[in-house]
Amino acid sequence: MAAKFRKIGVLTSGGDSPGMNAAVRAVAREALSHGVEVMGIYGGYRGMIYDEMIELTSREVSNKITLGGTFLYSDRCLEFKEEEGMRKAIETLKRHEIDGVVAIGGDGTFRGATDLSARGIPTIGIPGTIDNDITATDNTIGFDTAMQTVLECVDRLRDTCESHARCNVVEVMGRGAGDIALNTAIACGAVAAIIPEVEFDEKACIERIIKLRREGKRNFIVIVSEGVSGYSEDFAKKINNITKELAENENNDRMWVETKFVRLAHVVRGGSPTLSDRLLATKMGVRAVDELLAGNSDLVVCEKAGEIVTVEIAYSQVLDRMYKGTLKDGMLDRFSPEQVEEMRRLIEEKKQYFKDTYTMMERISG
Ligand code: F6P
Repeated sequence: MAAKFRKIGVLTSGGDSPGMNAAVRAVAREALSHGVEVMGIYGGYRGMIYDEMIELTSREVSNKITLGGTFLYSDRCLEFKEEEGMRKAIETLKRHEIDGVVAIGGDGTFRGATDLSARGIPTIGIPGTIDNDITATDNTIGFDTAMQTVLECVDRLRDTCESHARCNVVEVMGRGAGDIALNTAIACGAVAAIIPEVEFDEKACIERIIKLRREGKRNFIVIVSEGVSGYSEDFAKKINNITKELAENENNDRMWVETKFVRLAHVVRGGSPTLSDRLLATKMGVRAVDELLAGNSDLVVCEKAGEIVTVEIAYSQVLDRMYKGTLKDGMLDRFSPEQVEEMRRLIEEKKQYFKDTYTMMERISG
């Protein structure tokens, strides 16, 4: 491997996610093993602008693999989007003789990485976000831990639901993506999941809860993705009020499924990373450094069918836009017909996966 790099920088940016520390550790250890020095840049791109960084020796990254959050801190830095901010950031990198950067975060982080690449700083992105909303990769760092945390919280809620014959409507993070909600709904034995990707039949869901209550079911969990905005709290009230009225009409208070609303919010983003996230973070961190040292840039490291691969950041971003339906004119022009075809196929597969998994969950819930 041609080690033309003497020093690289690593940063974490955007919403933190469990496993970011494991990724930083892997980046540092892999680079050091090739004789390349490493600077940890504090607070994402802000640290680049304001020259806040620390040398990451092997000892500096020890004992970090188990830690949640990010010891390099994180930020969503608007200043970096301005020409002046970018100029200062590049100056800082030059002053420290940093000749490559690994940026760990979500899509906003990758936009910053592309801007750096365009200004001659080789940059590789690593997907670190609990949301799993980077279409080019099967898994992002932190997604598994976030789901595990939801699982633990909901298992506790379920205990108390069972005791009191209640329902809990639980809202989970995920931004516009229903990955956390759908998977945890299955794993928690929820009665329903409400996610942006699949149309929700509210009437059928309430009828199912009533039917199951008549059959003697006592615990009811509904998992709602925050991406279905402004809905979960009202839906909890609806289940509560409809079943209360039913109980009154039937003069049978057992039919009242008292329903509470719980928003797990940032609880889901903290905590020690799971084995899967530590492993993924390590493999991705190592690969990111290897790509830089091989002379590559403007790539995002992904996991596809268990393999660590890379795609161009631009490809990853256009794929996400295609998925969300936010493509603008000309955005596909730089890609070959084969690549565009592949993008369309990946998106169809993802949409189909959501539909199939959702109907499977409905079939087995009860
Ligand atoms: O992208 C990670 C995430 O936790 C989302 O799930 C959530 O919508 C958002 O960040 C919350 O952002 P903040 O921490 O700025 O409130």
